[in-house]
Amino acid sequence: MTQPFHDLRVFLGAVRRQPAAVGAIAPSGPALAGLLATVVPSTGAPTVVELGPGTGSATKAVQRRIPAGGRHLAVELDGTLVEHLRSTYPRLDVVHGDASELGKLLADRGVEQVDAVISGLPWALFPEDLQRAILRQVGAVLTPAGAFTTFAYVHALGMKQARRFRALLDRSFDEVIVSRVVWANVPPAISYVCRRPTMGDDAG
Ligand SMILES: C[S@@+](CC[C@H](N)C(=O)[O-])C[C@H]1O[C@@H](n2cnc3c(N)ncnc32)[C@H](O)[C@@H]1O
Repeated sequence: MTQPFHDLRVFLGAVRRQPAAVGAIAPSGPALAGLLATVVPSTGAPTVVELGPGTGSATKAVQRRIPAGGRHLAVELDGTLVEHLRSTYPRLDVVHGDASELGKLLADRGVEQVDAVISGLPWALFPEDLQRAILRQVGAVLTPAGAFTTFAYVHALGMKQARRFRALLDRSFDEVIVSRVVWANVPPAISYVCRRPTMGDDAG
């Protein structure tokens, strides 16, 4: 079986096990994954962390871009996906854990700050206090020049949870840039690139 089909099988297995933690019908396609990976500095020795990497569609794009001296970690909640990522991406430091404990998980590995955070988390399925808790952790670990990116499906942008999450991003970061629509993704999606966490009371 080819890697993309194997990834899809593993992904659909995770959807069956925990639909509320996955929140997608398919892994992100290469166009969206490539767009998300552009927050990874392509020079120097950056530290990059993925949240909710799933079967690793963004992981592949990050590994193509990250310089040889960089460090690439991924925090995934689902144990089966953790095993899949470990066997597929031997250079990836896969952390079996919850993104809401990001600061501690990184500190346990001697990492205090990161240059980029790439999220595949299903934000629209999370209660607001969990969204806030995770964004607060992201803001606390980003370097001053660091960037956080995530994506949202276009068909769901009008939904209350998606609008609430967008408003929370605006309160949590000084800058939120919305990308063009990636029509080549299933379903079509946009990305948000966020910089300079405000760490204000509104962010949690
Ligand atoms: C939509 S999938 C993302 C898949 C992948 N990033 C992609 O774009 O194809 C969401 C992933 O987030 C993981 N997840 C959900 N809640 C999480 C949490 N609190 N901490 C870490 N991972 C989580 C799920 O297990 C799942 O693998």
